[in-house]
Amino acid sequence: MDNVTIDVHVNGLDQEVLRAEIRRALLRTPRELPTKYFYDDRGSELFERICELPEYYQTRTEHMLLSTIADQLVARTEAEELVDLGAGAATKTRVLLTAMAKANRLRTYIPFDVSEGIVRRVANELVTEYRGLRVHGVIGDFLEHLEHIPSGEKRLVVLLGGTIGNLRPDAASAFLSQVSAEMTSGEYFLLGVDLIKEAKRLEAAYNDAAGLTAEFNKNILRVLRTSLDLDFEPEAFAHVAFYNPSDQRIEMRLRSTREQALHLQTLDLTLTLAQDEDILTEVSVKYDRQKAETVLSRGGFHMVEWYTDPEQLFGLALARKA
Ligand SMILES: C[S@@+](CC[C@H](N)C(=O)[O-])C[C@H]1O[C@@H](n2cnc3c(N)ncnc32)[C@H](O)[C@@H]1O
Repeated sequence: MDNVTIDVHVNGLDQEVLRAEIRRALLRTPRELPTKYFYDDRGSELFERICELPEYYQTRTEHMLLSTIADQLVARTEAEELVDLGAGAATKTRVLLTAMAKANRLRTYIPFDVSEGIVRRVANELVTEYRGLRVHGVIGDFLEHLEHIPSGEKRLVVLLGGTIGNLRPDAASAFLSQVSAEMTSGEYFLLGVDLIKEAKRLEAAYNDAAGLTAEFNKNILRVLRTSLDLDFEPEAFAHVAFYNPSDQRIEMRLRSTREQALHLQTLDLTLTLAQDEDILTEVSVKYDRQKAETVLSRGGFHMVEWYTDPEQLFGLALARKA
């Protein structure tokens, strides 16, 4: 399609880098796997289904908040281009795109995601849904390839879905510094954060009755088995997710259900896992207003507005590049 451009910055050629990254993570104490490997096409689809689960209040709440503030946000930021970091299915982003279109401001949408299939799908959907819209997708790792965000004017950059929570607070500030370095002084940034709340509610969201989060968690092993030919057996692991109150984060882990020796040939590594030994696959750091303000200001942003729902489940911080 004429009005769709897709730039690809991650592909199979990076295999050496990927292997080194995974090897390092598995040799950490506790063992880890990098969260971004959840998101092949199947992982993205599972995440979309998780967003619709009754236990997963995050998506509904952020959607409702965005619907409430979209018009004033568009008027205030005067944005004509939307840069969506970790865009995924762009379901909630459509609320912003619609408000921009209504104000006759919508020009360009820039979805940036590591998952190629979903960016291509969303690009084609959106140019049909919004007349005259240009979509310039970037397939890349937002921790590595931010400089490939196309330059533009009157941009609003968003990072929704609580994705910032996948980074520990220091890494989150370092990442936000990279984001602000790509922006022009005065441009706006919208950050969605899941809020600190009672453990029971948080843990239910990551241990859904339908077992989709468990499937999603194990998908990381399937991705690594397929893309790097690694000898993981998803059936030999159990999904574990709990709230760690001292670090104010959900930890998602894969727990080895038996003692096992994994011969990870392409990593040149044999990994011996004890029964009940964990591999940390995701952290989801929870925020409050103060913590969001701090992480933003360390990243070179000045928070100008804070929005939350009556139950204080989810927060949206509007910030400006200082
Ligand atoms: C929690 S989902 C949020 C999706 C969407 N923004 C939403 O609010 O529903 C995280 C998204 O970020 C993408 N992602 C995760 N790590 C990434 C990375 N390092 N670089 C680029 N995209 C990444 C995933 O593919 C996924 O689409």
